[in-house]
Amino acid sequence: MNSHFAASEAALGAARRVIPTGVTSAVRLATRPTPVVFERGAGPRLTDIDGHSYIDYVLGYGPLMLGHDPRDVIDAVKGSIESHLLLGGQHRLEARLGELVTTTVPSAEMACFSTTGSEAVAAALRIARAHTGRPLIAKFEGHYHGWLDGVAVNTPGTPAAAGTGEIEPLPSTGGVAVSDAVAVLRWNDEQALRRLVASRGGELAALILEPVPQTGLIEPLPGFLESATRLAKSVGAVVIFDEVVTGFRLALGGAQQRYRAEPDLTVLAKALGAGFPVSAVAGRVEIMDVVANGTVGHMGTFNGHPPSFAAACAAIEAYRAEGLYERLEELSSDLADGLTAAAVATGSTLKVRQLGPMIWTWFGHEDLDSYAAVQRADQGANQHFGARLLQRGIHIQPRGAWLLSAAHGATEVEESIEVASSVLAEMADAGVGVVERIA
Ligand SMILES: Cc1ncc(COP(=O)(O)O)c(C=O)c1O
Repeated sequence: MNSHFAASEAALGAARRVIPTGVTSAVRLATRPTPVVFERGAGPRLTDIDGHSYIDYVLGYGPLMLGHDPRDVIDAVKGSIESHLLLGGQHRLEARLGELVTTTVPSAEMACFSTTGSEAVAAALRIARAHTGRPLIAKFEGHYHGWLDGVAVNTPGTPAAAGTGEIEPLPSTGGVAVSDAVAVLRWNDEQALRRLVASRGGELAALILEPVPQTGLIEPLPGFLESATRLAKSVGAVVIFDEVVTGFRLALGGAQQRYRAEPDLTVLAKALGAGFPVSAVAGRVEIMDVVANGTVGHMGTFNGHPPSFAAACAAIEAYRAEGLYERLEELSSDLADGLTAAAVATGSTLKVRQLGPMIWTWFGHEDLDSYAAVQRADQGANQHFGARLLQRGIHIQPRGAWLLSAAHGATEVEESIEVASSVLAEMADAGVGVVERIA
């Protein structure tokens, strides 16, 4: 037992007797040295049951853009639950949230709401298939679109395809039924998409993508989003941007605003609810028409969940605050610069990539321009870094993602750089993740 996390270890042991693995979402299992049991979140910080405090860059895996206790969101939720829980009917905040989404996300004209990102992806795929009358979905290797069958192939963590040829769809986990209704392409590979459009364009219902895949933060090459969109639309396929992570994060209007791209459908979740479960598929009227005319039934007991809608309305109002995104960009660029400087000073192979309030760190000599490169990075050094940061009070995602929120400030950034520098120096002493010295 690791004594630093004694209470967490004991609580996890108890949980494992009644919950397989002891955690409730598999990604959390990768936390080293151990998944932590938390009990309090405030501003940018978390406290665990051993009494340790952490600067939190996980932010609930994305939703907490406003930190752990955004007052306006909490007050809105309190007001909502004081007057009702579930209505099994309509309420005024539904149209209000629809209005907020369609006036915030550039390509959104109408929106259907669900609870989680995976559900909204499933709804988007169904809408695309109904609109086109076709079965095939194309996705990119290393992009994640939730845990449901259909797109749970070649996700972060599955082995990268070798070479540069065709990619065989690989399930992301046991129990996934892989069908020939999904094709997998390399990110930023326009030629592969051209070949697919030429050979199976008549079957193609949708091209789905993360405009910037969170794993590796590999930006689209200049012009790639435009040409991919053009190619897919040229055969009548629907272009779906999965902005579950990038929505309300890379800009108020998401990645599509940042890159001036024009998807047909957009999937939103995470930051949409600022900590409450609500998701959306939003898009052009012409495509959403399959829902309007009853061809696609959009269902869900918790769709329209009033407290989550109250949270989402308050959150979008908060995201509209003057200067929020500029301040976040500056703060996260300071953090990225500080981490890079610490790496140079300690002879570490740590590399840092930053885009808006998102950072990706990895160890190795190679730049990350593909999912295969992400997989080739030094995972051992990455785990060591994440584990030591956790022991020193910095909480990042196990694969190397850091997210900032409106609650983070210069104090957290300075403290994080200081701790990371000391961890990198320790790793250098131990010869982990360091530039090889030439004798
Ligand atoms: C890009 C992306 N799409 C979809 C999902 C699925 O969302 P959820 O976990 O809410 O089902 C996630 C979750 O991490 C995601 O990152």
